[in-house]
Amino acid sequence: MRMYAFEPDPNQSKAELYRELSQAAQAIMVGEPDSVANMANVAALIWQFVPHLNWAGFYRMVGGELVLGPFQGKAACIRIPLGKGVCGTCAASGETQLVPDVHAFPGHIACDAASRSELVVPIIRDGAVIAVIDLDSPEPGRFDAEDAAGLEALAKVMAAAI
Ligand code: SME
Repeated sequence: MRMYAFEPDPNQSKAELYRELSQAAQAIMVGEPDSVANMANVAALIWQFVPHLNWAGFYRMVGGELVLGPFQGKAACIRIPLGKGVCGTCAASGETQLVPDVHAFPGHIACDAASRSELVVPIIRDGAVIAVIDLDSPEPGRFDAEDAAGLEALAKVMAAAI
């Protein structure tokens, strides 16, 4: 049995925060092959490290559509077809989606009415999208290029662990 006590410093830079998040994720997943356990712990780490979120978690590619995975936040939509919403657009294109105003994104799927901005990054293995990481914030324009780069680095860590 192990206890994990990660304590993100609220005064550190965004780059440092995401670096620590990826390091914590690697530390918590080392030697653990169960992808559900790994995604569950990393959803909890994102929630702990990244401020001003109302939802953080995973959608996995299952049978040609996205299916809800481990997350923190309110209960969410279970299945998202490829190309639909912010997550489905990310999964279909394989490209990060940074949405400053979800109300201006055509086809945005509102799982939690509080969400105002969103960041979704693909997890890619052997050239294929196997899952996405989705962050929602109640603040408009919450995410910037540093958040995208930090979350993309975490997605690379996850590609080997789920
Ligand atoms: N807003 C997402 C759906 C997932 S929830 O935000 C958790 C979308 O448009 O794909």
